[in-house]
Amino acid sequence: MAIEDKFQLATYKKMPIVAERGDGVWIYTSDGDKYLDLYGGHAVAGTGHCHPHVVNALRTQAGELLFYSNLVYSSARARAAEKLVSIAPHSLTKSFFCNSGTEANENAMRMARMATGREQIITFSGGFHGRTADAISATFLGKYRELGKPNVPGHLEAEFGNIDSVRALANENVAAIMLEPIQSMAGIRLARPEFYRALRTLCDERGIVLIYDEVQTGVGRTGSWFFAGSDGVVADIVTLAKALGSGVPVGACLVTDAISSHIKENDLGTTFGGGMLAMAAVTATLEAIENDQMLDNVNKVEAHLRERISEVEPVVAVHGRGLLLGIEFNDKAQPFHQALLDQKIITGTSSNPKVLRLLPPLCLQKEHVDLFVDALCTC
Ligand SMILES: Cc1ncc(COP(=O)(O)O)c(C=O)c1O
Repeated sequence: MAIEDKFQLATYKKMPIVAERGDGVWIYTSDGDKYLDLYGGHAVAGTGHCHPHVVNALRTQAGELLFYSNLVYSSARARAAEKLVSIAPHSLTKSFFCNSGTEANENAMRMARMATGREQIITFSGGFHGRTADAISATFLGKYRELGKPNVPGHLEAEFGNIDSVRALANENVAAIMLEPIQSMAGIRLARPEFYRALRTLCDERGIVLIYDEVQTGVGRTGSWFFAGSDGVVADIVTLAKALGSGVPVGACLVTDAISSHIKENDLGTTFGGGMLAMAAVTATLEAIENDQMLDNVNKVEAHLRERISEVEPVVAVHGRGLLLGIEFNDKAQPFHQALLDQKIITGTSSNPKVLRLLPPLCLQKEHVDLFVDALCTC
């Protein structure tokens, strides 16, 4: 810890844990302790830590070819792209690979501008889209946007869940409306189904591209592969990262034919996007979720958690869907976060001081929920 503090910029408030090994929902520390991980390393460990199918695929790929860029074809890349498109809503027919969530969003906004010839982007108060220039300018949450000054021009802020506020901004220079369908950092905020449907209609009427930032909601976290497709709404572009590579950095955009028809050679690119190791991670991640029937598991475990949590007196509501959940307390959540950590359970806070966030591996079992609820009862 001392060495890391000495040689790394102090940009994160860290838990006093040295993580050495992971297995499923467990993190093992250098002190020989084990922690129940209900945070999944920022929602990344979707398949759980070190899922054997993912680890084996990475070992094999590492021995064959670590990397070559998009200037050559690759069977690892072909498999990943085919698999990803095959599980997506059928109107999303093409993929673009990059390395992170912020990059996926940058490319999504760029594609929307290219496809429409317009410049402005509408996003929502409480949404978080990343820390690179365009993505942070689209982030109307707390102080993040300030950190990105000077901001990229042309970003407009609407109120999440309020379609009239979006309509008022949707002028003829708006290229895209982008949203986290469930706002995570804001404290797990889900809008009513009519809101998503009204956004789709508005976009269709005014020629605006609808972008779902599914960096957190994608890859099975809500109990289906993507949020896109629920409430009868499919976005024109879906962005992914976090759980997509089980911990190997990878991001992606999934797009419709209408969008892809505007994108030409050299319009987008990144050296590492589509590299073989990351692609092997994507395929193996999606296979692991499928083989272990994790989507069904997410729905079962969510139901169990909602039932058991009703026993916990200071809990006033459970927000979200699947295993992207916000536990709202009648007072500050931070003391619960700390007390759970003392009992070796990792959870996340949010920008809502009353909401604790759970973003656990999708292989979480009912017995782990029981450990969590029992611990919460003693806090
Ligand atoms: C919804 C959402 N979008 C984008 C990002 C940015 O992703 P990354 O940190 O991989 O750049 C995050 C990261 O927390 C996120 O939660």
